[in-house]
Amino acid sequence: MKDASKQTLVELFKKLWDYVKPYRKLVIASLILTIIGALLAQVNALVLRYTVDELTTLSNANKTLKEGFTLLAIISIILLLKEGFYALVQFGQKFYGEKMKIYISKDFAQNIVERILTYKMAFYSSPTNESGKLQTRIDLGVTSLTQLVKNFFIDILPLFFNAFVALIIMFNANVYVGLVSLSIIPLFFYISSLQAKKLKGFRRTMRKYRETKNNGIIGLINSITVIKSFTRESFESKKHEAIQLDMTENQLQTRKLSFLFDGLKKFTEQFGVVIIIILTAYFVLNGSMTIGAIMFHILLFNNVSAPIQQLHRIYDEVQDAIIYSDAFFEIMDADEETELSGTYIPEKFTGTFEIENVDFAYPNGTKALYDVSMVFKPNTINALVGLSGAGKSTVINLLDKFYAPTSGKILLDGVDLQEYDTHWLRDNIGLVLQKNHIFNGSIKENILYGKENATDDEVVAAAKQAYIHEQIIQLPEGYNSKATLLSGGQQQRVSIARLFLKNPPIIFLDEPTASLDAIATEKIKKSLDAIKKGRTVIVISHSISQIIDAENVIVLEKGKVIEQGTHEALYNNESAYFKIFNAMANSLNIDKIKNTLKE
Ligand SMILES: Nc1ncnc2c1ncn2[C@@H]1O[C@H](COP(=O)(O)OP(=O)(O)OP(=O)(O)O)[C@@H](O)[C@H]1O
Ligand SMILES: [Mg+2]
Repeated sequence: MKDASKQTLVELFKKLWDYVKPYRKLVIASLILTIIGALLAQVNALVLRYTVDELTTLSNANKTLKEGFTLLAIISIILLLKEGFYALVQFGQKFYGEKMKIYISKDFAQNIVERILTYKMAFYSSPTNESGKLQTRIDLGVTSLTQLVKNFFIDILPLFFNAFVALIIMFNANVYVGLVSLSIIPLFFYISSLQAKKLKGFRRTMRKYRETKNNGIIGLINSITVIKSFTRESFESKKHEAIQLDMTENQLQTRKLSFLFDGLKKFTEQFGVVIIIILTAYFVLNGSMTIGAIMFHILLFNNVSAPIQQLHRIYDEVQDAIIYSDAFFEIMDADEETELSGTYIPEKFTGTFEIENVDFAYPNGTKALYDVSMVFKPNTINALVGLSGAGKSTVINLLDKFYAPTSGKILLDGVDLQEYDTHWLRDNIGLVLQKNHIFNGSIKENILYGKENATDDEVVAAAKQAYIHEQIIQLPEGYNSKATLLSGGQQQRVSIARLFLKNPPIIFLDEPTASLDAIATEKIKKSLDAIKKGRTVIVISHSISQIIDAENVIVLEKGKVIEQGTHEALYNNESAYFKIFNAMANSLNIDKIKNTLKE
């Protein structure tokens, strides 16, 4: 993955603009309101100066109270009208801003999901993308990017504009006063950037902590049975506490630094106020300004400094957002993770797989296959045999194009598998997985995954073939029950029903009956035998009954093919297959079984 931390603000801005573009009308509307708002914001200062000066004149001239009241009435009306109008403008500004924020947040969230769905298996099995970490990264990314959009396109401009208008009025009133205000701005920027630099490291560490922590909690929930049965509650809680303590320390440091810098900024601002008072008082005393100028300048200075203070908040949020958006765009722009697909769709299809000298290592570096060559013919039952960890499931992963071989070739009907249209290929493969074959949703939804537009009758027929229909209808909610609450064997049969519904020409069965009871195994074996005819079938199994019928047995050991042939031929070789088969048979305690059956 590229180092996205080098992402500059300008690049980020460009990326965000793509998301903002569809809503540019909203941006323009809120900007127009901003300009009106900035002008209105200066009204108070002007009115106040006028009031103070008028009142001074009135009291100096010993005028009546009545004349004072007229003045006050006019001022009150102006101020109230201004506030009313200002409230309307602000409402519009906030509402349009928020509307844009909500829409864009939706777009971010949808785009990232659409994007990661196109990524290859290696992306998901990489340790940096464990589900909890990925989730946190996406969630925080969406939140902070949305905030960033708001900052860039809704918040910053009004602030700048406010400050800008106030500065112009100040310069117009008096060049020196304007200069003092102007000189405060770079000082603020300097302090803010210093603060950001100091905090950057803490922020990045914090992101890691958050991801690890969330990942930890998800892991905890997933393994709760193991934790409880081994009474490891306190061990787990200590593990969690360690992360929590690191986080606490980090948070405290962050806060401490923030408060220190906030104080410094406040002091700088007050320093500015003092200088402006002194300067204005000087001009009042030497007669070049009226007394109203003091209030006038302080309010204007406030109009300059308040936005700049806010700018710092935005600056902080932008810094945060950059950190999370780095991670977000790293996921979003991971072009190298996109699953490659060829374009080849065959007109005629036989279904012969040839694996030629394939080496393969998983993304984490585990080498799983070494110079593997094998052939799977259609109309034949192929069995992959080998001890646990030999690489059997890995072969299936490669045939399904979940991963590409590190070197070597896989051909289907003589054409490189990489050239095939991946969707077409998978549409023609039925896979019963060894694990994780059920997803969140009802039983019916799970079976329907095999064929989207299947009728209810077809679903029931498939469930009957998989010998699960009777059990499903016993459930309180029948086919609408949650599939994840089914027992292990029931889940496996649901995934077999899905295969029957899909009815594909290529079938990969990875331990299809591992979690089934004997009676279900026997019945499903019949269904499977029926569907196997005229197709390319690969079965992986540790059970004798599954492999004894195979016409082509391939024996894998530590990622290498060590034998290939028919069951009889390999058995007569008296080598690896012979040993494995005998071990399987002996584990069944056949003699005792035989005797029992006789009696
Ligand atoms: N997603 C993965 N990432 C990294 N290594 C993996 C992954 N899946 C499997 N491996 C490793 O690859 C090797 C082969 O695993 P594979 O799942 O193919 O074994 P198997 O023959 O199917 O075993 P079993 O009979 O236990 O299912 C093992 O050493 C395993 O640890
Ligand atoms: Mg396996």
